[in-house]
Amino acid sequence: MARKRIAILISGRGSNMAALIDAASEHSYPADIALVLSNVADAGGLSVAQSKKIKTEVIDHKCFGKDRDGFEREIQKILDANRIDYVCLAGFMRLLTPSFVSHWHGRLLNIHPALLPSFKGLDTHERAIAEGVKIHGATVHFVVPEVDSGPIIVQAAVPVLTGDTPQSLSARVIQAEHRIYPLALRWLCEGKLKIVDGRCVIDGASDIDGVLISPTNLRLS
Ligand code: GRF
Repeated sequence: MARKRIAILISGRGSNMAALIDAASEHSYPADIALVLSNVADAGGLSVAQSKKIKTEVIDHKCFGKDRDGFEREIQKILDANRIDYVCLAGFMRLLTPSFVSHWHGRLLNIHPALLPSFKGLDTHERAIAEGVKIHGATVHFVVPEVDSGPIIVQAAVPVLTGDTPQSLSARVIQAEHRIYPLALRWLCEGKLKIVDGRCVIDGASDIDGVLISPTNLRLS
């Protein structure tokens, strides 16, 4: 099967981007990272991508003012020019219009730092600590027009520990993110993901393959 061509959209440090690039550097991985695109010219992830010999582009949303369609038309032009099959959002901090999202239906993934549908939106780690939840985590999902709401592909759970700060919790969650995003993209590229009645079904994988609990030595008895 031909390797799929992936674009990763970032706005910041790009650690998930780097995890995807590293996964795709394996021969057996079914995708190539063909492009990293940022809306922020000095996003840290751009130099990381360049150091890994990945093509980068910048489209600064500020140049388009309130014209979100114009901004997205430029993005679409670059995605088309690079013959992109699938797009991964990885810390891309712009909302995308329903028309862009519909165009990429079933081909656009996002990673969110919480166990959706809990804690949609920003500041997820602060809010998880404030609510006193015992389990937090991350979710890879298909993107739909409503923010942080698309069909869930994989989730990773981590414990929230006494004394956790948003930083310490975030450090635990991000490690899990780096494991589940490459897994979800692999399944997408292998054609294993289907959306049925608004939910994601993974062909040829058991239900628990879409769940990661970390660390695995949680004492449950
Ligand atoms: C991650 O926590 C991701 O879940 C969220 O934005 C953050 C991006 O981090 N969407 P990085 O740029 O991948 O390090």
